Amino acid sequence: MKGSWNSTSMILVTLYFLLSFVHNFGDVLAAPTRHLCRPEQRDALLQFKNEFQSQNPSCDYNCLINGSIVHPHPKTESWGNNNDCCNWEGVTCNAKSGEVIELDLSCSCLLGRFHSNSSLQNLPFLTTLDLSSNGFSGQILALAGNLSHLTTLDLSFNRFSDLILSSTGNISQLMSLDLSYNLFSGQVPSWIGNLYKLTSLELSSNNFVGEIPSSFGNLNQLTTLGVSRTYLSGNLPISLPNLTRLTDLTLNFNLLTGTLPPNISSLSNLKYFQAAENAFTGTLPSSLFTIPSLIYIILSDNQFNGNLEFGNISLPSNLKTLDVNNNNFIGPIPRSISKLVNLKRLSLSHLNTQSPVDFSLFSHLKSLEDLNLSHLNTPTTIDLNDVLSYFKSLRFLYLSGNHVSVTNKSSVSYPPSLYQLRLSGCGITELPEFLRTQHEMAVLDISNNKIKGQVPRWLWTQTNLDSVNLSNNTITGFERASVPKPSMMNFFGSNNNLTGNIPSFVCTLRSLRILDLSDNNFSGSIPRCMGNLKKTLSVLNLRRNNLSGGLPEHIFERLRTLDVGHNQLVGMLPRSLRFFSILEVLNVESNIINDTFSFWLSSLPELQVLVLRSNAFHGPIHQVSFSKLRIIDISHNQFNGTLPTEYFLKWSGMSSHGTNSYWSDQKYIGDDMGYYHDSLVLINRGSALELERIFKLYTTIDFSGNKFEGEIPTSIGLLKDIRVLNLANNAFTGRIPSSMGNLTVLESLDVSQNKLSGEIPQELGNLSFLAYMNFAHNQLSGLIPGGNQFRRQNCSAFEDNLVLFGPSLDEVCRNKHTPASQQNETPESEEEEEEFLSWIAAGIGFIPGIAFGLAMGYKPKWLMNFKVQRAQTSGGALKLGSLTKPVKSLLAEKIVEAEAPPLTREA
Ligand SMILES: *[C@@H]1O[C@H](CO)[C@@H](O)[C@H](O)[C@H]1NC(C)=O
Ligand SMILES: *[C@@H]1O[C@H](CO)[C@@H](O)[C@H](O)[C@H]1NC(C)=O
Ligand SMILES: *[C@@H]1O[C@H](CO)[C@@H](O)[C@H](O)[C@H]1NC(C)=O
Ligand SMILES: *[C@@H]1O[C@H](CO)[C@@H](O)[C@H](O)[C@H]1NC(C)=O
Ligand SMILES: *[C@@H]1O[C@H](CO)[C@@H](O)[C@H](O)[C@H]1NC(C)=O
Ligand SMILES: *[C@@H]1O[C@H](CO)[C@@H](O)[C@H](O)[C@H]1NC(C)=O
Ligand SMILES: *[C@@H]1O[C@H](CO)[C@@H](O)[C@H](O)[C@H]1NC(C)=O
Ligand SMILES: *[C@@H]1O[C@H](CO)[C@@H](O)[C@H](O)[C@H]1NC(C)=O
Repeated sequence: MKGSWNSTSMILVTLYFLLSFVHNFGDVLAAPTRHLCRPEQRDALLQFKNEFQSQNPSCDYNCLINGSIVHPHPKTESWGNNNDCCNWEGVTCNAKSGEVIELDLSCSCLLGRFHSNSSLQNLPFLTTLDLSSNGFSGQILALAGNLSHLTTLDLSFNRFSDLILSSTGNISQLMSLDLSYNLFSGQVPSWIGNLYKLTSLELSSNNFVGEIPSSFGNLNQLTTLGVSRTYLSGNLPISLPNLTRLTDLTLNFNLLTGTLPPNISSLSNLKYFQAAENAFTGTLPSSLFTIPSLIYIILSDNQFNGNLEFGNISLPSNLKTLDVNNNNFIGPIPRSISKLVNLKRLSLSHLNTQSPVDFSLFSHLKSLEDLNLSHLNTPTTIDLNDVLSYFKSLRFLYLSGNHVSVTNKSSVSYPPSLYQLRLSGCGITELPEFLRTQHEMAVLDISNNKIKGQVPRWLWTQTNLDSVNLSNNTITGFERASVPKPSMMNFFGSNNNLTGNIPSFVCTLRSLRILDLSDNNFSGSIPRCMGNLKKTLSVLNLRRNNLSGGLPEHIFERLRTLDVGHNQLVGMLPRSLRFFSILEVLNVESNIINDTFSFWLSSLPELQVLVLRSNAFHGPIHQVSFSKLRIIDISHNQFNGTLPTEYFLKWSGMSSHGTNSYWSDQKYIGDDMGYYHDSLVLINRGSALELERIFKLYTTIDFSGNKFEGEIPTSIGLLKDIRVLNLANNAFTGRIPSSMGNLTVLESLDVSQNKLSGEIPQELGNLSFLAYMNFAHNQLSGLIPGGNQFRRQNCSAFEDNLVLFGPSLDEVCRNKHTPASQQNETPESEEEEEEFLSWIAAGIGFIPGIAFGLAMGYKPKWLMNFKVQRAQTSGGALKLGSLTKPVKSLLAEKIVEAEAPPLTREA
């Protein structure tokens, strides 16, 4: 009966009133004594809350806090539910005075611009302010003006566009300042050097330029200084060694140059010193290793040179980690290394030894667990059996890029229990036999060798082996195991000599997440039994085989990447695809798929890359919405019809000005076997670029080579993130929309071979990143815009139009022997174009199953081997040309950094 209350609800309601009474009563009681915050501070907090949005979609990202991936949580959401702001989430008050002294709003989904009058000014007793990992933008002008007690300030992982904090007012109480993980730009404000009480200063992950202010030398209470992942350049300030209390100095991923200060040993309390991925030169200062407190040194990926020498090592050495990978050191491994008896992790890769390696040096390092001796340029062959006999605790061994021999006859007498072995590019012809008994082995990389024959049966029965890379060998098949162990999660078998049908055996590997069998000679159809993997498979890459038949019909609910490009697949896109609820990449290029444009693709909420290129797709493309799509290539099909003016209205993934790519960057953390890098070929003016291992989604639209007609939709101007736009070789008519002038990060525009008329919009002259453009073979007329970028084009980019003129064109065509109208492609012009094209890059990467793994309380193994990883610049695909800005941001965003002190240090 309507309105009747059963007894349970009565009890609940009673309880509710009781509880809220107790609660409010408690507040009232507490008020006169302690904790009830001051009204003006409460108002300031509420006002601050109202200055920013705190809801989806701003919550769609991950934060990295203390080395753990954390899902954001809107702390301010519950503010105001009770009166005592001292009880609000993230707020800490002084227990006696009730003054708000700490505000921790890290990772709280806050989105919006800071104003110069931010109400934070009304919280003058703050000693700690942590605003890291949000979506703040704008300036925080004068923010610090009244925050005179601040000891901690963390504004990291935001999108502040400027940092014009003023030092007016008394801010000398600040003890901790954290501005990291934001996008502050401009110079690091030198007034920070006046916050002489600071003990902790964190500026990492911003867009700072310029030098580290020398005023930092004043911060003599500082114990932690973090300045990673910015664009800071120049030398370290000579005042740096004044920071004698410093225990933790982190300078990774900058553009810092010069040598390390010779008197660096003044930092006599230094424990953790990281300066990876900079451009430091010179030799290591001999005083460095005299600092007795040192535990951790990471100087990888710099240009240090000379002999690697440790000078007078302070004894006993506490050093546990020493990583000098990828420098220009030359000469043998110093014998004094045997004094670093507490080393757990040692990385010397790319040390140009030019001499044999004496492994007996390492026999004193009883704790050594992780040894990276890749690419040592040693003239001798390293005998793996011999090497292993020197180690008992070794867990990680990297010998890639050396010539390694494996004698399978004499087995190693007491091999250590390896967890990870990397022997990529070692000229090995057979799988090391001793691996059979390495039951703790989890990761095996034996790619780029000359391994012949079949994958042996025992590989599938190893208890812990979860990641195997056998790509680029000459393997011809799989020996199947009748009872495979369910451990295999990531199997990379691309670029081998695998032929015949894909063995149904792979369907029995029930934990498989990544299956990459691309670049083989598999034929026949994709086995139906793959459906057995529909609950686990995250990446399926079958690119470049000879597969025929249709796509699988199963619902792969965990699939993120499906790449079946360059096969002979036929039929339609399976309708089950719409239920692949986390699909990010769908690439079916160069097959014979005959289908219409599937409007339901827009129901894939995570779809970021859609490549239908070179198939038999046909008919109109419906107006759809794509919330995350960043790359779409539907070129070289038979799509036709017109595109309504508002066609791109709901393509929000491309109109967000980088928000998506910024957040998704934060997923790319880990070891390279645990995650997958999609690679992609972007084709532009006939130049194919294979793009691999690049982490940023490079926003692209390619509709070329279809039969579209009518006008180019003006709504194209909404796609503010777009870098490459190719509409060539269609039948578009009308004018080039002037709204394209809003595409401020556009780098490549091709509208050639259409029926466009009217002027080239003058607005395009303001697009300062527009490096490549092509307007040829249309009916354009009038004045060519005057921007610098127009002056850098080839004459041929304007050929075969009606009457184009203007100073830019005169300049462009002046150096040519023939006038614009007759200009044909010349060898020189092609070369120039290549310059511009070569940095047009795309790709994404992610860690399959990470969210799942973490949610299940399972700690992925790669997290245990957390380390700074070198970003790969796929075979010179990035060239700077005159356009340093986009490339720079690209570089920054494809860098994977593991700034995870606790994990890294104990790994
Ligand atoms: C991070 O770790 C440090 C030391 O392990 C700890 O003191 C600090 O409270 C942690 N911070 C957070 C936000 O969990
Ligand atoms: C702060 O400034 C912004 C714009 O400058 C304005 O819209 C807003 O109303 C101001 N807020 C307060 C509290 O003064
Ligand atoms: C650093 O210390 C030296 C003396 O130890 C002093 O002369 C110098 O002024 C200091 N530099 C700064 C920037 O504080
Ligand atoms: C394949 O491995 C060989 C060494 O065996 C190496 O020279 C070659 O560059 C590798 N190819 C690819 C595509 O990685
Ligand atoms: C593997 O395939 C390559 C290219 O298809 C061929 O040249 C080579 O002879 C094959 N090797 C083996 C061992 O089958
Ligand atoms: C696509 O399929 C239709 C029939 O459904 C057929 O008429 C057409 O020729 C096919 N196109 C191609 C390129 O195979
Ligand atoms: C588009 O192409 C189809 C054939 O695939 C044809 O039937 C249709 O009339 C064309 N539509 C337009 C608008 O040209
Ligand atoms: C282009 O940007 C300007 C200013 O931001 C705006 O007024 C205009 O509506 C935009 N046009 C389109 C088509 O987005």
